[in-house]
Amino acid sequence: MDYKREIKLLSIEPRNKPRLSEVLVKLACAKCKYKEKILSLNEITRILFSIQGCRPSSWLSCFRTIPSAGATYPLEIYFISSGIEGLEEGIYSYNPKRHSLTLVYSDSSLDFSGVLVNAVYERTTGYYGSRGYMYVREEVGHAIQNAVVTSCSLGFKADVYLSESIPGKILELNNMLKGVSEALIILEPYNGEGKELRELPISIKRELSLDEAIIKRKSVRSYERKPLSLNDLNYVTYLSIYEFCEGTRTYPELNSRYRDNIILVVGEVDSIDNGIYIFRSDTGEFEVLSRGDYRRELMKASLSQRWVGEAPVSIVIVGEGDIRSEYEAGMIGQNIYLSATAIGLGTVAIGAFYDNMVREIVGVGRPLYVMPLGYPRKKLF
Ligand SMILES: Cc1cc2nc3c(=O)[nH]c(=O)nc-3n(C[C@H](O)[C@H](O)[C@H](O)COP(=O)(O)O)c2cc1C
Repeated sequence: MDYKREIKLLSIEPRNKPRLSEVLVKLACAKCKYKEKILSLNEITRILFSIQGCRPSSWLSCFRTIPSAGATYPLEIYFISSGIEGLEEGIYSYNPKRHSLTLVYSDSSLDFSGVLVNAVYERTTGYYGSRGYMYVREEVGHAIQNAVVTSCSLGFKADVYLSESIPGKILELNNMLKGVSEALIILEPYNGEGKELRELPISIKRELSLDEAIIKRKSVRSYERKPLSLNDLNYVTYLSIYEFCEGTRTYPELNSRYRDNIILVVGEVDSIDNGIYIFRSDTGEFEVLSRGDYRRELMKASLSQRWVGEAPVSIVIVGEGDIRSEYEAGMIGQNIYLSATAIGLGTVAIGAFYDNMVREIVGVGRPLYVMPLGYPRKKLF
């Protein structure tokens, strides 16, 4: 890498506004602040940091703003610059450890600005074998969601294209870049009124801002033995997947439809009987699928990872056989992390489980993630 062409980025100061719920609801309803101006370097920096930045508490080890299976970090992030003041047009590589951009290809014929998410699969498949392919695609989903939600908070629309619909020109350039192109996120100003939105049907006492939730997010594997309040569970389920506007959820559709659902394996939640429930993303109802405490079974199916048995509830993301379901699971998973963090709950994305055993427990769909949820033994903030 030619560091002479490196642009050091300013470190990120988390904004105390907007609140997480405010942004996610606006995102669902295409109501992100209307703006006509062009992206600034400061706004680009925020978006890149949200996708792959090193969390401030972990400069040495560089734990990122999104989770990664075994911290293998297979993603490489590029910024495509067109018409941005003070930034030569072309493709830049983002270096999370140096928090910098380096021009890797100069091109003034590009007619959009955006983020390209590439993946070096071997970093993850080297450890996890063929299971690693799903993990990487889930991670791309986490990256997309942080990019989209941060763009929304800055007043920009982020259109997501998965590899099969990335423009040929970008794919041609790919041989100069590390990894395979997984997703292109084109950033544009918002120019619409958005849709009529439904209010969040729960009360929120204290909640972090979007930026604080992104920075404080981390995986939690130890939970207090106390029941989860229904209000806290609702906050997480609603913000993760609810259709705040008719037909549109708190994350973007991939190729024009949603494929995934969330199932709750309830062990200790105030005012809900133990059992397995599907959360209806259109009505917000928990529909019972079976009764009883299935946490031990779910823990065994998750390679006996203790935290699955310990948490008062686990969210299982289920989808279809299609690989787009895996990207979508990452987007929902990121919403679960962010919303849990915003109200002081903990969670961890679990990909290591026996598919057939989890499938048998939940009874619907193809399991993509198991995410225990509870009050962390060690407070997050
Ligand atoms: C696809 C995927 C699969 C994961 N599977 C597991 C798992 O089976 N068990 C676990 O404890 N953590 C799992 N994790 C969490 C990672 O270990 C964690 O994100 C990583 O150590 C970085 O830590 P952080 O999330 O606190 O930044 C997984 C994360 C991802 C993205």
